[in-house]
Amino acid sequence: MSTSLQAVREIVTASSSGQAALLQVLLAVQDSSPENYVSEEAVNEIAHLLGVSRSRVYSTASFYSVISLKPRGRHIVRVCINAPCENAGKQAVLIALEQELGVSLGGTTADGRFTLEGVSCLGACYMSPAIKIDNRLYGDLTPEAAVAIIRSYGEEDTIEHTA
Ligand code: FES
Repeated sequence: MSTSLQAVREIVTASSSGQAALLQVLLAVQDSSPENYVSEEAVNEIAHLLGVSRSRVYSTASFYSVISLKPRGRHIVRVCINAPCENAGKQAVLIALEQELGVSLGGTTADGRFTLEGVSCLGACYMSPAIKIDNRLYGDLTPEAAVAIIRSYGEEDTIEHTA
């Protein structure tokens, strides 16, 4: 399910003006989507309401890897693939996550709960290897710890975690 057009209108109305507005709106629209993406309908509405071209909206959305134009899982699991995390054991953590979730990097679980993505540095190099699930960082991971974190996300996803 994508963001409703009414929700898009409310987000655009509440946004600031100027250069930052488009990115701000794209992030907010994506956050409001249960499938963590910006739909084509939302792109059209944003372009219309902000008075910019659709291609400008698309190019901005495409430029920032944090924005997706395709449906994703409810939770985004981001694995740092940069050298410090690589050297600290990222590959074993990634393999464990792929096995636990049953998807490769870029994939979404069949139940739509998780999308696994690779990113270039999470700003948490001091606790490599690190991953981020939605807005929460986890570091100094072992493969077992990474799997336990995934499993701690219950059906209601209400469990609190520590970084
Ligand atoms: S290199 Fe992995 S968090 Fe920075």
